Amino acid sequence: MAHQLLKGKRGIIFGALNDMSIAWKTAEAAHAQGAEFVLTNAPIAMRMGEINKLAEQCGNAPVIAADATKEEDLQALFEQTMEHFGGKIDFVLHSIGMSPNVRKKRHYTDLKYDWYHQTLDVSAMSLHKTLSTALKLDALNEWGSVVALTYIAAQRVFPDYNDMADAKSLLESITRSFGYHYGAQKKVRINTISQSPTVTTAGSGVKGFDEFISFSDQMSPLGNADAAACADYIITMFSDYTRYVTMQNLFHDGGFSNTGVTESVISKFGNGE
Ligand SMILES: NC(=O)c1ccc[n+]([C@@H]2O[C@H](COP(=O)([O-])OP(=O)(O)OC[C@H]3O[C@@H](n4cnc5c(N)ncnc54)[C@H](O)[C@@H]3O)[C@@H](O)[C@H]2O)c1
Repeated sequence: MAHQLLKGKRGIIFGALNDMSIAWKTAEAAHAQGAEFVLTNAPIAMRMGEINKLAEQCGNAPVIAADATKEEDLQALFEQTMEHFGGKIDFVLHSIGMSPNVRKKRHYTDLKYDWYHQTLDVSAMSLHKTLSTALKLDALNEWGSVVALTYIAAQRVFPDYNDMADAKSLLESITRSFGYHYGAQKKVRINTISQSPTVTTAGSGVKGFDEFISFSDQMSPLGNADAAACADYIITMFSDYTRYVTMQNLFHDGGFSNTGVTESVISKFGNGE
Protein backbone atom coordinates (compact mmCIF):
# COMPACT_ATOMS: atom_id res chain seq x y z
CA MET A 1 0.00 0.00 0.00
CA ALA A 2 2.71 2.51 -0.91
CA HIS A 3 0.88 5.52 -2.34
CA GLN A 4 3.37 8.15 -1.14
CA LEU A 5 0.52 9.67 0.89
CA LEU A 6 3.04 11.44 3.13
CA LYS A 7 5.54 12.54 0.51
CA GLY A 8 7.15 15.82 1.57
CA LYS A 9 5.84 15.54 5.14
CA ARG A 10 8.06 15.58 8.20
CA GLY A 11 7.32 14.60 11.74
CA ILE A 12 8.20 13.19 15.13
CA ILE A 13 7.25 9.67 16.21
CA PHE A 14 7.22 9.00 19.98
CA GLY A 15 7.09 5.53 21.49
CA ALA A 16 8.76 2.89 19.27
CA LEU A 17 10.07 0.47 21.91
CA ASN A 18 10.33 -2.73 19.86
CA ASP A 19 8.90 -4.22 16.68
CA MET A 20 5.55 -4.89 18.37
CA SER A 21 5.00 -1.20 19.22
CA ILE A 22 2.24 0.68 17.41
CA ALA A 23 4.78 3.50 16.91
CA TRP A 24 7.26 1.08 15.30
CA LYS A 25 4.66 -0.09 12.77
CA THR A 26 3.70 3.54 12.15
CA ALA A 27 7.32 4.51 11.47
CA GLU A 28 7.61 1.67 8.93
CA ALA A 29 4.36 2.70 7.25
CA ALA A 30 5.23 6.43 7.28
CA HIS A 31 8.61 5.67 5.70
CA ALA A 32 6.92 3.56 3.01
CA GLN A 33 4.55 6.49 2.35
CA GLY A 34 7.42 8.90 1.76
CA ALA A 35 7.57 10.72 5.13
CA GLU A 36 10.73 11.80 6.90
CA PHE A 37 10.78 11.83 10.69
CA VAL A 38 12.69 11.88 13.94
CA LEU A 39 12.27 8.91 16.27
CA THR A 40 12.14 9.54 20.00
CA ASN A 41 11.63 7.66 23.22
CA ALA A 42 12.47 7.95 26.91
CA PRO A 43 16.24 7.50 27.46
CA ILE A 44 15.65 4.34 29.53
CA ALA A 45 13.62 2.78 26.70
CA MET A 46 16.54 3.22 24.32
CA ARG A 47 19.09 1.31 26.32
CA MET A 48 18.64 -1.92 24.34
CA GLY A 49 19.34 -0.03 21.12
CA GLU A 50 16.35 -1.53 19.30
CA ILE A 51 15.29 1.89 18.03
CA ASN A 52 18.55 2.25 16.07
CA LYS A 53 17.55 -0.74 13.92
CA LEU A 54 14.28 0.98 13.11
CA ALA A 55 16.07 4.25 12.37
CA GLU A 56 18.36 2.48 9.90
CA GLN A 57 15.37 0.81 8.25
CA CYS A 58 13.69 4.24 7.88
CA GLY A 59 16.41 5.96 5.85
CA ASN A 60 18.66 6.69 8.86
CA ALA A 61 16.05 8.69 10.73
CA PRO A 62 17.60 10.75 13.55
CA VAL A 63 17.01 9.33 17.04
CA ILE A 64 16.65 11.89 19.84
CA ALA A 65 16.05 10.81 23.43
CA ALA A 66 13.34 12.69 25.34
CA ASP A 67 11.40 11.93 28.48
CA ALA A 68 7.96 13.19 27.45
CA THR A 69 7.21 14.31 31.01
CA LYS A 70 10.14 16.77 30.95
CA GLU A 71 9.51 20.11 29.31
CA GLU A 72 13.23 20.78 28.78
CA ASP A 73 13.62 17.45 26.94
CA LEU A 74 10.63 18.25 24.73
CA GLN A 75 11.93 21.71 23.94
CA ALA A 76 15.33 20.29 22.93
CA LEU A 77 13.60 17.60 20.86
CA PHE A 78 11.52 20.08 18.87
CA GLU A 79 14.42 22.50 18.44
CA GLN A 80 16.77 19.77 17.21
CA THR A 81 14.08 18.36 14.92
CA MET A 82 13.45 21.74 13.29
CA GLU A 83 17.17 22.27 12.95
CA HIS A 84 17.53 18.87 11.28
CA PHE A 85 14.75 19.56 8.78
CA GLY A 86 15.56 23.24 8.40
CA GLY A 87 12.01 24.24 9.25
CA LYS A 88 8.65 23.25 10.70
CA ILE A 89 7.12 19.78 10.78
CA ASP A 90 3.76 18.33 9.76
CA PHE A 91 2.91 15.49 12.13
CA VAL A 92 3.46 14.12 15.62
CA LEU A 93 2.57 10.65 16.90
CA HIS A 94 2.12 10.41 20.69
CA SER A 95 2.25 6.67 21.36
CA ILE A 96 3.10 6.73 25.05
CA GLY A 97 1.58 4.92 28.00
CA MET A 98 2.76 3.62 31.36
CA SER A 99 1.21 2.97 34.77
CA PRO A 100 3.33 1.92 37.75
CA ASN A 101 0.09 0.85 39.50
CA VAL A 102 -0.71 -1.54 36.62
CA ARG A 103 2.86 -2.80 36.52
CA LYS A 104 2.98 -3.41 40.26
CA LYS A 105 -0.56 -4.79 40.35
CA ARG A 106 -2.10 -2.25 42.75
CA HIS A 107 -5.88 -2.52 42.81
CA TYR A 108 -7.80 0.51 41.52
CA THR A 109 -9.40 1.00 44.94
CA ASP A 110 -5.98 1.06 46.62
CA LEU A 111 -3.74 3.07 44.31
CA LYS A 112 -0.36 4.39 45.35
CA TYR A 113 -0.87 8.08 44.70
CA ASP A 114 2.61 9.07 43.61
CA TRP A 115 2.36 6.27 41.03
CA TYR A 116 -1.12 7.52 40.04
CA HIS A 117 0.41 10.92 39.45
CA GLN A 118 3.13 9.30 37.29
CA THR A 119 0.47 7.44 35.27
CA LEU A 120 -1.33 10.69 34.51
CA ASP A 121 1.90 12.57 33.82
CA VAL A 122 3.43 9.99 31.45
CA SER A 123 0.25 8.83 29.72
CA ALA A 124 -1.76 12.07 29.44
CA MET A 125 -0.09 15.29 30.60
CA SER A 126 2.86 14.45 28.33
CA LEU A 127 0.50 15.16 25.40
CA HIS A 128 -0.29 18.60 26.81
CA LYS A 129 3.43 19.28 27.36
CA THR A 130 4.23 18.14 23.81
CA LEU A 131 1.53 20.34 22.28
CA SER A 132 2.40 23.33 24.44
CA THR A 133 6.08 23.03 23.47
CA ALA A 134 5.19 22.73 19.78
CA LEU A 135 2.88 25.75 19.95
CA LYS A 136 5.40 27.95 21.80
CA LEU A 137 8.10 27.09 19.25
CA ASP A 138 5.60 27.35 16.39
CA ALA A 139 6.93 23.97 15.27
CA LEU A 140 3.93 22.69 13.29
CA ASN A 141 2.86 23.78 9.82
CA GLU A 142 -0.75 24.78 9.11
CA TRP A 143 -2.90 21.65 8.65
CA GLY A 144 -0.33 19.71 10.66
CA SER A 145 -1.72 16.66 12.43
CA VAL A 146 -1.15 15.23 15.91
CA VAL A 147 -2.41 11.75 16.81
CA ALA A 148 -2.38 10.15 20.27
CA LEU A 149 -3.33 6.56 21.06
CA THR A 150 -6.12 5.78 23.49
CA TYR A 151 -8.40 2.97 24.63
CA ILE A 152 -12.19 2.62 25.14
CA ALA A 153 -11.67 2.27 28.92
CA ALA A 154 -11.87 6.10 28.82
CA GLN A 155 -15.63 5.72 28.20
CA ARG A 156 -16.56 2.36 29.72
CA VAL A 157 -15.26 0.34 32.65
CA PHE A 158 -12.71 -2.40 32.00
CA PRO A 159 -11.73 -3.12 35.63
CA ASP A 160 -8.18 -4.34 35.06
CA TYR A 161 -7.24 -1.29 32.99
CA ASN A 162 -6.96 0.39 36.38
CA ASP A 163 -5.72 4.01 36.56
CA MET A 164 -4.84 3.96 32.84
CA ALA A 165 -8.60 4.49 32.25
CA ASP A 166 -8.36 7.82 34.05
CA ALA A 167 -5.23 8.72 32.09
CA LYS A 168 -6.98 7.97 28.80
CA SER A 169 -10.00 10.10 29.80
CA LEU A 170 -7.62 12.98 30.50
CA LEU A 171 -5.74 12.35 27.25
CA GLU A 172 -8.97 12.54 25.24
CA SER A 173 -10.03 15.70 27.07
CA ILE A 174 -6.66 17.36 26.36
CA THR A 175 -7.14 16.40 22.71
CA ARG A 176 -10.44 18.29 22.57
CA SER A 177 -9.33 21.31 24.59
CA PHE A 178 -5.93 21.76 22.95
CA GLY A 179 -7.45 20.83 19.60
CA TYR A 180 -9.71 23.86 19.89
CA HIS A 181 -6.89 26.31 20.67
CA TYR A 182 -4.33 24.87 18.23
CA GLY A 183 -6.97 24.71 15.51
CA ALA A 184 -8.16 28.29 16.03
CA GLN A 185 -4.65 29.73 16.31
CA LYS A 186 -2.64 27.68 13.80
CA LYS A 187 -4.97 25.32 11.92
CA VAL A 188 -3.30 22.30 13.52
CA ARG A 189 -5.52 19.28 14.15
CA ILE A 190 -5.38 16.89 17.09
CA ASN A 191 -7.15 13.54 17.41
CA THR A 192 -7.01 10.35 19.43
CA ILE A 193 -7.31 6.90 17.90
CA SER A 194 -8.99 4.39 20.17
CA GLN A 195 -7.31 1.13 19.27
CA SER A 196 -8.35 -2.52 19.85
CA PRO A 197 -6.34 -4.38 22.49
CA THR A 198 -3.05 -5.17 20.77
CA VAL A 199 -0.19 -7.48 21.71
CA THR A 200 2.61 -5.04 22.65
CA THR A 201 4.78 -4.49 25.72
CA ALA A 202 2.37 -1.89 27.19
CA GLY A 203 -0.73 -3.95 26.28
CA SER A 204 0.54 -7.18 27.79
CA GLY A 205 1.06 -5.45 31.18
CA VAL A 206 -2.70 -5.40 31.77
CA LYS A 207 -3.93 -8.25 34.00
CA GLY A 208 -5.83 -11.01 32.14
CA PHE A 209 -4.74 -9.53 28.79
CA ASP A 210 -4.72 -12.83 26.85
CA GLU A 211 -8.29 -13.72 27.82
CA PHE A 212 -9.36 -10.15 27.25
CA ILE A 213 -7.91 -9.95 23.77
CA SER A 214 -9.92 -13.07 22.76
CA PHE A 215 -13.08 -11.60 24.30
CA SER A 216 -12.57 -8.35 22.42
CA ASP A 217 -11.89 -10.21 19.18
CA GLN A 218 -15.17 -12.10 19.49
CA MET A 219 -17.05 -8.91 20.42
CA SER A 220 -15.85 -7.15 17.26
CA PRO A 221 -17.64 -7.93 13.96
CA LEU A 222 -14.36 -7.40 12.08
CA GLY A 223 -12.17 -8.85 14.84
CA ASN A 224 -9.45 -6.93 16.69
CA ALA A 225 -7.47 -4.44 14.63
CA ASP A 226 -3.74 -5.17 14.82
CA ALA A 227 -0.84 -2.72 15.16
CA ALA A 228 -0.10 -2.65 11.42
CA ALA A 229 -3.73 -1.75 10.62
CA CYS A 230 -3.57 0.95 13.30
CA ALA A 231 -0.46 2.33 11.61
CA ASP A 232 -2.34 2.53 8.29
CA TYR A 233 -5.13 4.51 9.96
CA ILE A 234 -2.60 6.86 11.55
CA ILE A 235 -1.09 7.49 8.09
CA THR A 236 -4.47 8.63 6.79
CA MET A 237 -4.76 10.99 9.76
CA PHE A 238 -1.35 12.48 8.93
CA SER A 239 -2.29 12.82 5.25
CA ASP A 240 -4.08 15.71 3.53
CA TYR A 241 -7.17 13.50 3.04
CA THR A 242 -8.37 14.15 6.60
CA ARG A 243 -7.74 17.90 6.87
CA TYR A 244 -10.97 18.84 8.61
CA VAL A 245 -10.94 16.05 11.20
CA THR A 246 -9.95 17.44 14.58
CA MET A 247 -10.76 17.15 18.31
CA GLN A 248 -12.15 13.65 17.72
CA ASN A 249 -11.78 10.29 19.40
CA LEU A 250 -11.73 7.88 16.45
CA PHE A 251 -12.46 4.23 17.10
CA HIS A 252 -10.20 1.78 15.30
CA ASP A 253 -11.57 -1.36 16.86
CA GLY A 254 -13.28 -3.62 14.29
CA GLY A 255 -16.71 -2.37 15.47
CA PHE A 256 -16.28 -3.27 19.17
CA SER A 257 -17.41 0.14 20.44
CA ASN A 258 -20.85 -0.09 18.80
CA THR A 259 -21.50 -3.77 19.49
CA GLY A 260 -23.77 -4.83 22.37
CA VAL A 261 -23.24 -8.55 21.95
CA THR A 262 -22.22 -10.95 19.18
CA GLU A 263 -23.55 -14.38 18.27
CA SER A 264 -20.14 -15.80 19.01
CA VAL A 265 -20.16 -14.49 22.60
CA ILE A 266 -23.84 -15.19 23.37
CA SER A 267 -23.47 -18.79 22.15
CA LYS A 268 -21.12 -19.43 25.09
CA PHE A 269 -24.07 -18.94 27.47
CA GLY A 270 -26.52 -21.27 25.68
CA ASN A 271 -27.29 -24.89 26.54
CA GLY A 272 -26.18 -26.08 23.12
CA GLU A 273 -29.65 -26.07 21.45
N1 LIG B 1 -1.49 -2.32 23.19
C1 LIG B 1 -2.78 -2.07 23.38
O1 LIG B 1 -3.60 -2.95 23.66
C2 LIG B 1 -3.28 -0.64 23.22
C3 LIG B 1 -4.64 -0.41 22.99
C4 LIG B 1 -5.10 0.91 22.88
C5 LIG B 1 -4.19 1.95 23.03
N2 LIG B 1 -2.86 1.68 23.26
C6 LIG B 1 -1.94 2.80 23.46
O2 LIG B 1 -1.00 2.82 22.41
C7 LIG B 1 0.14 3.55 22.84
C8 LIG B 1 1.41 2.78 22.47
O3 LIG B 1 1.51 1.61 23.22
P1 LIG B 1 1.94 0.20 22.61
O4 LIG B 1 0.80 -0.73 22.79
O5 LIG B 1 2.53 0.38 21.26
O6 LIG B 1 3.06 -0.27 23.65
P2 LIG B 1 4.64 0.03 23.79
O7 LIG B 1 4.99 -0.48 25.15
O8 LIG B 1 5.35 -0.53 22.65
O9 LIG B 1 4.73 1.63 23.75
C9 LIG B 1 4.60 2.46 24.89
C10 LIG B 1 5.72 3.48 24.76
O10 LIG B 1 5.64 4.51 25.76
C11 LIG B 1 6.99 4.91 25.98
N3 LIG B 1 7.15 5.72 27.20
C12 LIG B 1 6.87 5.36 28.47
N4 LIG B 1 7.20 6.36 29.32
C13 LIG B 1 7.69 7.38 28.55
C14 LIG B 1 8.20 8.68 28.83
N5 LIG B 1 8.29 9.15 30.08
N6 LIG B 1 8.62 9.45 27.80
C15 LIG B 1 8.55 9.00 26.51
N7 LIG B 1 8.08 7.77 26.18
C16 LIG B 1 7.64 6.98 27.20
C17 LIG B 1 7.69 3.56 26.11
O11 LIG B 1 9.10 3.67 26.11
C18 LIG B 1 7.12 2.82 24.92
O12 LIG B 1 7.90 3.05 23.77
C19 LIG B 1 -0.05 3.81 24.34
O13 LIG B 1 -0.61 5.09 24.54
C20 LIG B 1 -1.08 2.74 24.69
O14 LIG B 1 -1.81 3.05 25.88
C21 LIG B 1 -2.39 0.41 23.34
